[in-house]
Amino acid sequence: MPETVLVTGGAGFIGSHTCVELLAHGYEVVVVDNHVNSAPHALDRIAKTAGRPLAASYQVDVRDRQALSRVFAAHRVDAVIHFAAHKAVGESVALPVEYYDTNVAGTCALLAVMHEHGVHRLVFSSSCSVYGDADSVPLTEHSPVAPTNPYAHTKLMCERVLEDVCAHLAEMKVLALRYFNPVGAHPSGLLGEDPQGVPNNLMPYVAQVAVGRRERLSVFGDDYATADGTGVRDYIHVMDVAEGHRVAVEHLDDRAGFQVFNLGTGTGTSVLQLVAAFGEASGRPIPYQVVDRRPGDVAALVADAGAVAAAWNWTTTRDLTAMCRDAWRFQQLNPHGYAR
Ligand code: UFG
Repeated sequence: MPETVLVTGGAGFIGSHTCVELLAHGYEVVVVDNHVNSAPHALDRIAKTAGRPLAASYQVDVRDRQALSRVFAAHRVDAVIHFAAHKAVGESVALPVEYYDTNVAGTCALLAVMHEHGVHRLVFSSSCSVYGDADSVPLTEHSPVAPTNPYAHTKLMCERVLEDVCAHLAEMKVLALRYFNPVGAHPSGLLGEDPQGVPNNLMPYVAQVAVGRRERLSVFGDDYATADGTGVRDYIHVMDVAEGHRVAVEHLDDRAGFQVFNLGTGTGTSVLQLVAAFGEASGRPIPYQVVDRRPGDVAALVADAGAVAAAWNWTTTRDLTAMCRDAWRFQQLNPHGYAR
């Protein structure tokens, strides 16, 4: 019998691509999503892209234990991938309670329901933002953690909860994946990132400039201690992130307990390098102006991707050109995102 994976936040950017990857590898996939920051249309796109339907999808908030418990009662869940969370750094500063409630209390509710139904295998969506303002890169899983905003605190707090739960419940198997900067889209152009309102993140903003929805990019500072002065990040293709989750599910039984892994490429790219690459991929120059630094931004965050490579014999395969090309294809085919 194929394994059934329950994916919370399955209609979101990373969740939807991961569902396609799981379906393509024969898994049965159940989605739970409250759609506060995702379009229900994404669920149709998942089925269309994968050429196979989801086993089921439920509009449920993970904090609603009774509703969540009914979902677990209706399916024989073998593993859970937990994406459902708020994820905007700036918003988390304005709405810290909302962030703790959804991200931390939501994870606790999910754990309680998993426990009630005898489900012990979990892949958790964490973030490289737990490292904060890193002294030096690349960052290994042993680099010091120092969150600088409520969002990053919630992710680290969830990791701590999971680690402690694993220390006391011998049957638990949890892998926390600290992603660097997921970008790009499914190569079909059917699935991609569909931010509501003005994008916070660099790649979707650049894509909207290229398609003519926005006049120019603001580059947040060119006086960082990096080669060209602009911020350096480890951009990772969302299809590699999705593949990483599927591989993680395959490795859940390697050992019991809690483990944390970086999910990045190990390559740093500056804002101006990304702008140039996107201009090349789209054939459209990206107008930009340099403005002040964005409060809370750090100079450079780049992964040491060696741990997953050693543990799973797996590495990312898609480069910056593929990230820009696929993001641009999605933007062109869906200039206003998924119809809402
Ligand atoms: N940037 C610009 N102009 C923009 C947007 C971004 O110059 O309009 C720059 C930023 O200053 C930074 C780089 O582009 O140097 C990347 O910025 P993003 O907002 O795309 O990504 P961040 O690294 O700031 O943060 C992202 C997510 C967070 C997550 C973090 C690490 O937004 O949720 O990665 O996982 F926590």
